[in-house]
Amino acid sequence: MPSAPPTRGDFLLMACQGGAEAALCQRQEEVLPQITKAAWRRGAVTFRLGSFDPAEDFFPDLVFNRTCIRSLGQVTGTSDAQRAAAAAALAGKAEWKALHVWNRDPRAEIDRQLIRAALGAVYELPAAADTTSAPGDLILDCIVDSPDRWWIGWHRAATPPSCWPGGVYPVALPEGKVSRAWLKLDEAITTFGIPLAAGQRAIELGASPGGACQRLLEAGLDVVGVDPALVDERVGSHQRFEQWRMRARDVRLTALRGFHWVVADMNIDPTSTMESLERAVMAPGTRVQGIIATLKLPTWDRATDLPKFLEQVVTWGFTPHARQLSTGGREVCVWATRVTTPRTLAR
Ligand SMILES: C[S@@+](CC[C@H](N)C(=O)[O-])C[C@H]1O[C@@H](n2cnc3c(N)ncnc32)[C@H](O)[C@@H]1O
Repeated sequence: MPSAPPTRGDFLLMACQGGAEAALCQRQEEVLPQITKAAWRRGAVTFRLGSFDPAEDFFPDLVFNRTCIRSLGQVTGTSDAQRAAAAAALAGKAEWKALHVWNRDPRAEIDRQLIRAALGAVYELPAAADTTSAPGDLILDCIVDSPDRWWIGWHRAATPPSCWPGGVYPVALPEGKVSRAWLKLDEAITTFGIPLAAGQRAIELGASPGGACQRLLEAGLDVVGVDPALVDERVGSHQRFEQWRMRARDVRLTALRGFHWVVADMNIDPTSTMESLERAVMAPGTRVQGIIATLKLPTWDRATDLPKFLEQVVTWGFTPHARQLSTGGREVCVWATRVTTPRTLAR
């Protein structure tokens, strides 16, 4: 395992979706009170470590934290070469395996290729493109705040998102996919390591136009899509797909038997999504082994309901994990696996 840089950094810099900063800080106060907020900009919050020295810097319970690095400080200067030299002085020598150069605000149109080249020249690291890394790799991070101001830090790759520059899923929506929900589900499967297996059955609540169902079909599952709106013909005509054109709450309890996976992606209040999920996983005769649910947040302050929602999932007999996916909007993806045989709803 390559050794850490000589200066480890006294701050954690956490990237999040623009707008999610307050939600991230609120989660931090609940689950990681050992650190204190130092500064924030759109898409990034910095925390002072103080005497807290975590063994690793990945805190999945923070939910809104896309990636986390040890921040060493910022560099400015009149040219990329000058800033790269300043970055080298800050980060020092270490067995860097890769460079992750990413924009603080992913929407900012800053060309990172020249920055990568300047840093790559100093560190003799490949600078050709955004490279993904492997668990264990020691990574030098350059967060581009603006073209002439970079923050320098580092992290050791461990979880799948920590292998991606800025924690952003490095896959573009392939051609022929019905909706961006295909990509969201693809990111969730990779992030959580969801063990979908051919021949299993899945039901999706809120299925139209059908990108997520398409991804489930590609994994070899038999799929039922529940939605009053019609799904795209490419999904609707698949021989392992069936659509029930109705609202989730109108599906009869007996019809909910026999599914391995319950997926939900409805554009309704998260409390209503939770009610539909409860019906689906607690129906008599159910053998659901996992839930993959998108909880839409009508406003950011609804993030305060998240602990209550996760606690509800526990009472159904599941272990939940939550994360705001990089390909999603103002929403949280909840992935939960069955741990106990639950009591079920009355018929
Ligand atoms: C974000 S879209 C779903 C995208 C879809 N998962 C995909 O893969 O393309 C939200 C969908 O939820 C559906 N919806 C809203 N309320 C619903 C309900 N009560 N029951 C079922 N579907 C619902 C809407 O009709 C809409 O098609």
